[in-house]
Amino acid sequence: MELSEETLSRIEDLIPKYPEKRSAALMVIHLVQDELGAISDDACSWIAEKLEIEPINIKELITFYPMLRETPWGKKHVRVCRTLPCALRGSYGTCKVLEEKLGVKEGHVREDGEFSIEFMECLADCGEGPVVMVGEETFENIEGKNAEKFADLLIQEKLNTSKDFVSYENSLVTQSPVSKTTKKK
Ligand code: FES
Repeated sequence: MELSEETLSRIEDLIPKYPEKRSAALMVIHLVQDELGAISDDACSWIAEKLEIEPINIKELITFYPMLRETPWGKKHVRVCRTLPCALRGSYGTCKVLEEKLGVKEGHVREDGEFSIEFMECLADCGEGPVVMVGEETFENIEGKNAEKFADLLIQEKLNTSKDFVSYENSLVTQSPVSKTTKKK
């Protein structure tokens, strides 16, 4: 397993901040996963050795928390909210459209590794559902016909330049704070 100098140095800085090395486990796992996309058996052993605990102590964390992974998601990871407010606005249909268009079932990675879909609990934007995240970007009101267009643009790698789907994060940059505040009230 290879980690960048930057990640290694962040790990070295982080561990002494905790009273016991083992208490840094979750933070170290996150740093490793951020770089490698998942915690392999090798990574698990490496972290355990670093924190002077057993690999099973790391494994139990990885298998308990849904955000932690033993195998990486696809190159473009799509998350669809399935919690009640989004479900009432059609997120089950949105997920189905994305599954069909992207050619992968939720909870899986497409064979070529390009896309993966996760149908998951609240993405913390409940008033604007159905909410879909692509990587770390949040898209709102992705339902019905919208979902089909959204999927097409994602496949064509045109989502970032589309005027029809501006992510919440990008809208903070492109809209005035007043208009965004009004929208999110
Ligand atoms: S219910 Fe969908 S974002 Fe919270």
